[in-house]
Amino acid sequence: VTAPEISESDRQLVARVDEALATILAEAPIAGDLRRAAEHALLGGGKRMRPLLVLRCAAAVGGSVDDALPAAAAIELVHAFSLVHDDLPALDNDAMRRGRPTVHVAFGEAMAILAGDLLLALATEVATGSPRQALAIVAELSRATVAMIHGQVLDTLRCFTAGSSDRERLLEIHANKTGALLVASCRMGGFAADAAPSQLDALTRWGKAIGLMFQIVDDLLDETQTAEHIGKAVGKDREAGKLTFPGVLGLEASRAEVRRLEAEADAALAPLGSRAAPLAELSRYLANRTR
Ligand code: IPE
Ligand code: IPE
Ligand code: MG
Ligand code: MG
Ligand code: MG
Repeated sequence: VTAPEISESDRQLVARVDEALATILAEAPIAGDLRRAAEHALLGGGKRMRPLLVLRCAAAVGGSVDDALPAAAAIELVHAFSLVHDDLPALDNDAMRRGRPTVHVAFGEAMAILAGDLLLALATEVATGSPRQALAIVAELSRATVAMIHGQVLDTLRCFTAGSSDRERLLEIHANKTGALLVASCRMGGFAADAAPSQLDALTRWGKAIGLMFQIVDDLLDETQTAEHIGKAVGKDREAGKLTFPGVLGLEASRAEVRRLEAEADAALAPLGSRAAPLAELSRYLANRTR
């Protein structure tokens, strides 16, 4: 069985995103180790799923790549910031990311904290450059970033509502720490394309399904893959006692949940018609990815 891949046209969109991100850093007024750390965090690989979702969701409701590119770059900047801080010794304490040393290992902890701060601030600036509905896009990005941070607090410091079940806690962690940025990617694509309310609704429903699916798959990969294949440490969630889908439900039930969410995602796309075919293709990839 060969690992699933994104389509050739998706790869071309990812190339546009990579180019935009490189330009953003080239033009940023930073130097020395801060520049090197930011480049390490932002330009060193990564699947670019969130920006691809922005561009594909914009296209699914009739928008253009050019109009959605600032929003696409902005969400990847927030994602890169979230990973740099996620890997810090005080959070997941990881030494490898995307097959290379993490930012704090390569540049020191102070620089990793500051490089993360920088990426977040750049994200806002870039999002304000969206040619359509910039205010809605910036607001969406900020709200999702707040949710991501809330999710990271739950994941790392376990400040849960008393009396909630493991399953409720799991859903709250995943919807926030990972789902929020994925849902925002879809909605920002919608805004950049001036989507109608019913279209935005469909994109939001699709985003929620693939957003939860994304973290369940990430949890499964942590349990079932090698570090060499996924480019980051494995077995860490269990070791750290994290609440994960495989940890709470087991591997088989987690895989079944991925299948259920895949069907839910497909159903959400129905109102968008044939223009959403590339999104359906992306759901397949996201459900079956091995890294
Ligand atoms: C990893 O995200 C962190 C999660 C939110 C699960 P990705 O799997 O998108 O990481 P990259 O960007 O491709 O490295
Ligand atoms: C990461 O979740 C979520 C965010 C960065 C917000 P994980 O901690 O599971 O991500 P990986 O496995 O380190 O990529
Ligand atoms: Mg984490
Ligand atoms: Mg982590
Ligand atoms: Mg993980």
